[in-house]
Amino acid sequence: MSTFVTVTDQPTANSSLTIRRLLVDLSTGFDRHWNGGDAFRSAYMNALSMSFPVGEQFFIEAVRNGAAKLPSDARFDALRQTVREFIGQEATHRQLHSIYNAELERQGFKNHWGPRALQRVEKARAMRRRLHSRSEHFHELAVTAAFEHYTAVFGEQTLCRQGLPGDWLAGAQAPLQTLWRWHAAEETEHKSVAFDLYRALGGNERSRLFWFAFVSVIFTVDALRQTTNNLWHDKTLFKPSTWLSGVNFFWGRSGFVWRCFGASLAYFRKDFHPTQVGQAHLADDWLKANSALWQAVGRAPVPPQA
Ligand SMILES: [Fe+2]
Ligand SMILES: [Fe+2]
Repeated sequence: MSTFVTVTDQPTANSSLTIRRLLVDLSTGFDRHWNGGDAFRSAYMNALSMSFPVGEQFFIEAVRNGAAKLPSDARFDALRQTVREFIGQEATHRQLHSIYNAELERQGFKNHWGPRALQRVEKARAMRRRLHSRSEHFHELAVTAAFEHYTAVFGEQTLCRQGLPGDWLAGAQAPLQTLWRWHAAEETEHKSVAFDLYRALGGNERSRLFWFAFVSVIFTVDALRQTTNNLWHDKTLFKPSTWLSGVNFFWGRSGFVWRCFGASLAYFRKDFHPTQVGQAHLADDWLKANSALWQAVGRAPVPPQA
């Protein structure tokens, strides 16, 4: 029996999102250690990039299928529009990270994360089809909201230490530094969309927290597996400098763990909402300071009413 309740009458008001074209040229390639000459930081960011085309396609499908279940009345029009804009942003991320990943493949790296994630999604969908589940959109939205919390936390941490100790992109080559910071800004901007949609549809707390715990484990394991594989192909896996950088990246004074742990766990709070975590101005500040590096491509078109 489904544990989900019905659609709430509490649509959330998201502010509108801008879909942007990033003016960077990735076609000329980049160095293997593009991230400040640091093998570990390059390998870790490359691993994340490898997950995005499959992951972001999944997020797009999850919010599209979820939005299709919203009642057609005007109360949900703003949320529907924000979902379309979210899809526009994620589609541009997918596209640029696919170009980035093609260069990684050309350099001899092997993406295991993307195919493994796709296989996982297909298996879960096949199982729910066999069980005639009618709650697939809830599960996929809860998974998406969980990942979106992590991308927002990481995004905000990418933006808040620019030029300071603990800047994850210190010394990075220009096109990739811009790509990552732009992506971080947009993840920060649209961090509430999947969560609000899940809530508007009446998704329950138990499932929200279960999928967050699941995503936390799977994301950590997948990221470390792919980073290790990238370092293996880079022939830097057994270098002491790689391990030193990895330890510093996660556990150093401005390390990933200290900076992300509390914000990540906030998701378990009963009254949690993505806007309670982070600093909303970070994305705005970066986008304004770097307005020469992107162009707005307009709002997502409103499809005709059926
Ligand atoms: Fe994204
Ligand atoms: Fe996102």
